[in-house]
This record gives sequence, C-alpha cells and structure tokens, in this order.
Amino acid sequence: MNRKRILLTGAAGRVGRLLRPLLQARYALRLCDVAPLSAVAHDDEIICGDLADPAVATGAVAGTIGVVHLAGLVAPAVSFEDTLAPNYRAVLALLEACRHQGCDRFIFASSHHIVGLHAPAPLPDDPTLAPDGFYGLSKAFGEAATAMYARRFGIRGLIVRIGNADPAVVDGRRERLWVSGRDLTQLIAIGLEHPGLGCEIVYGTSNCPDAFFPNSAAQRLGYRPQDSAADHHAPGFRPLQAMTAADGAGHVGGLFAASVLPPPFART
Ligand SMILES: NC(=O)c1ccc[n+]([C@@H]2O[C@H](COP(=O)([O-])OP(=O)(O)OC[C@H]3O[C@@H](n4cnc5c(N)ncnc54)[C@H](O)[C@@H]3O)[C@@H](O)[C@H]2O)c1
Repeated sequence: MNRKRILLTGAAGRVGRLLRPLLQARYALRLCDVAPLSAVAHDDEIICGDLADPAVATGAVAGTIGVVHLAGLVAPAVSFEDTLAPNYRAVLALLEACRHQGCDRFIFASSHHIVGLHAPAPLPDDPTLAPDGFYGLSKAFGEAATAMYARRFGIRGLIVRIGNADPAVVDGRRERLWVSGRDLTQLIAIGLEHPGLGCEIVYGTSNCPDAFFPNSAAQRLGYRPQDSAADHHAPGFRPLQAMTAADGAGHVGGLFAASVLPPPFART
C-alpha cells in the first residue's frame, strides 16, 4: 500500500534529524533543505534547495498531503534582514505552494521565543506576544501567515510553539519547556490528521515540572504527552537554583532574551 507523502523542510537540521525516523514510521517523506541530505528509508525523496525561491517551494509541495515546516534561520543574535529570506519569504512561498498544489495541511514550527521576554513563570493560555529578538519576531509573521492561509484558503494549520527539542534536558529552565521527539511527533500527527482542525496554536512541550505553558489547546485536540522532562536530564544537568540571569534564568526565552539585540538592517 502506498504511504501518504508529507514534506519535511529543514530535514538536515537538529529537529529534522530527530523527527525523521519517527515520522518515517507513519508517512513517506520528502525531505528538503539547503544543506546536503541523504535518503535513509527506501522511499525517501530528497530536494536540496532554497525554499525562499517560490519555484523550489512549489516543486517541494507538489503531490504531498501536508507540510511540516521546520526550515528557517534559528539563532539569538540575527538581524531582521538575515531572517527575511529564510523566515518570511520561505513561509509565504510554501503557503502559496500549498494553496496552488491542493495541499491542505501546514504544520508551522514556531518557537517559545515568540513569548521569550516574559518573566520565567507559568503563562496564561493565550499570553501576550513578547518576541525576544528578530528570530522570535519572524515567528510572529509565520504564525500570522499560517492563520491567514487557513482562513482565506482552508489550509488547516497547526502552529507548534516548540519549547526545547534537545535529546536531553540540560538545565532547569529548559526542563519547564522541553519536548521529546516522540511527543513532538504526536503533535505533528494531530496537525496532519485531526479531522476538526482549523488553525490552532499549541506548545511543543512534554510533561514538564512547573511548566511555562498550560497547553490547553493541545489537550483539547487529544494530545497526551508520553514523556517527562524530569526523566531526561542530561549529564551535568544544571538545576534552576544554580542558574543566574547570565545563564538565561531571567526570562522564558533564556539566553536568547539576555543577548544583545543586533541592528535590524545591514550597515552600509
Ligand atoms: N531546536 C529546538 O529546540 C527548537 C526550539 C524552538 C523552535 N524550533 C524551531 O524548529 C525548527 C527547526 O529547528 P532546528 O533546531 O532544527 O534548527 P536548525 O538550524 O538545526 O535547522 C534548520 C534547517 O533549516 C534549513 N534551512 C534554513 N533556511 C532554509 C531555506 N531557505 N530553505 C531550505 N532549508 C533551509 C537549514 O539548512 C537547517 O538545516 C525551526 O523553525 C525552529 O525555529 C526549534
């Protein structure tokens, strides 16, 4: 039986590599990245290219039933201009491709850095946006674009504000927003398959002690995390009590929030 094919962008990156084997168990994958990629499963398809180019995005989406969009520029000290092609143009190019190719599921990898400047305490269900830099700001665009294409063109969207998807939990801040590959895969499957999905914002977090995010929308969609951050401490785990503002303990967004904001535009 032919497996349904999805597009996984940013497949060469950290989260892409974590998710590939888990998604492969469920879907046929088309993998896309600007960085080199190699096939692992017998039915993997590979596209190397820049998704900010609408022609690349169109070719990548064609024939798929859904897009898991991880690709983007991820860093604390990036300028607005650095983010323009990877985090604005590429999102729009993919959503336009979905619209014209009849692909009606779009999972957008957003980030907790969209609320990173909040104080480090549990947030309400629908916190005020507080991006902690130009990277977090670009996620606000991606979320809004996903919502716009959902309402205008019926592309069902799941916006996943990922907490921290490292293989293990390195410190007490990340323990409050960590997610396992298995739980993130469960959320993505909800985004690709839930029959009642319109456009929702959920948090990509596992069971976390003193969690920053209540994640009620994910619960309503049937999300039941299987993993607990407290069971996945990395060697040398640094507890919250041992952390200072210089370690990123002062904000939800950690060191991204503590870093110096670069000028938005290139200096001439
Ligand atoms: N890693 C985390 O814990 C975490 C936390 C919050 C959110 N996220 C989100 O998850 C996604 C993946 O994060 P990651 O940690 O794997 O990042 P990463 O930097 O390791 O991977 C991103 C990948 O996207 C590719 N890419 C960038 N621009 C591209 C373009 N224009 N066309 C094609 N490919 C392009 C890069 O080559 C890279 O392989 C990002 O959108 C990020 O914002 C990750």
